[in-house]
Amino acid sequence: MTLVAIGACYLDTILTAPHYPGEDEKLRASRISRRRGGNCPNTLEVLAQLLQYAPSSAESSLNLITVLPSKTSVASQQIQSSLGNMVQLDSCIYRETFSEPASSYIIASQATGSRTIVNYNELPEMTPTEFATAVQPLRAIADRPWFHFEGRAPDVTLECIHYIRKYFPNSTISVEVEKPGRSGLQELADAADVVMYSKGWAQNNGYISAEDCLRDQSLKTSQASLLCCTWGHDGAAALEPKTGTFAHVPAHIEELGVTDTIGAGDTFNAGLLYGLIYRRHGWDFRKRLEFANLIAGLKVTQEGFINLQ
Ligand code: FRU
Repeated sequence: MTLVAIGACYLDTILTAPHYPGEDEKLRASRISRRRGGNCPNTLEVLAQLLQYAPSSAESSLNLITVLPSKTSVASQQIQSSLGNMVQLDSCIYRETFSEPASSYIIASQATGSRTIVNYNELPEMTPTEFATAVQPLRAIADRPWFHFEGRAPDVTLECIHYIRKYFPNSTISVEVEKPGRSGLQELADAADVVMYSKGWAQNNGYISAEDCLRDQSLKTSQASLLCCTWGHDGAAALEPKTGTFAHVPAHIEELGVTDTIGAGDTFNAGLLYGLIYRRHGWDFRKRLEFANLIAGLKVTQEGFINLQ
């Protein structure tokens, strides 16, 4: 099975601080770390590990479509090596006149476990035409591909989804609805088969719980067969709008405590995609939700995504 994930790629600089600073405060961080980030790349990094345990992993291919600086830039080389040889970058869009990647500066608070992210990105966004060119080769090889979109640049993403519906009619489309306050995400949710909502987006839209979000969203998503929502310490929930099947699972509390929450949602999405794509047979609705919740819980107990098994 071919999975194509479409979303931004970042280089993250993470400062771990005792607490989130007040404005104009001076604060000494206890740690600095740098690593490749971005929702889709993070999800693929986790999936690449999980695939080692999938019954059909031999025929699977993981692909990333993202905008990167020049192919020979240090950043692009670092990004390539961070994803190893399990993730294909052949369909990426390289901006040859740029050398700097999109960057995130993140303050991780030890007091609350929050991660506050400030992004900077000067790379021009992907256009629908570039997307069509990037997926063109897949028309020959992919059987029933799965396209997973980070919900960003909603107008462009919606055009890409329409393109997929037209030229890859047998494919499945999932969309991550994460960024609070970004308009146009509702339309993306309405066009998808599977939707993953974040707590931030849900709260920003007035929902008071994952269940509240999913029940109301099931009235606003005409095509979806599965809706999921994560809710931090309150776990995660899933709903199949067509059958009414609903489940909520409590957060997986590890004795090891919280070490790094950056990318917990991306890890949940990896766990969910793993269940949906590679455990289509054998795992039911609840087991898939439990697994996604478990792997996201495991992730927060450790730094980064390496050896997440
Ligand atoms: C975590 C993350 C970071 C990245 C930021 C982009 O979910 O993907 O790795 O810098 O979010 O919004």
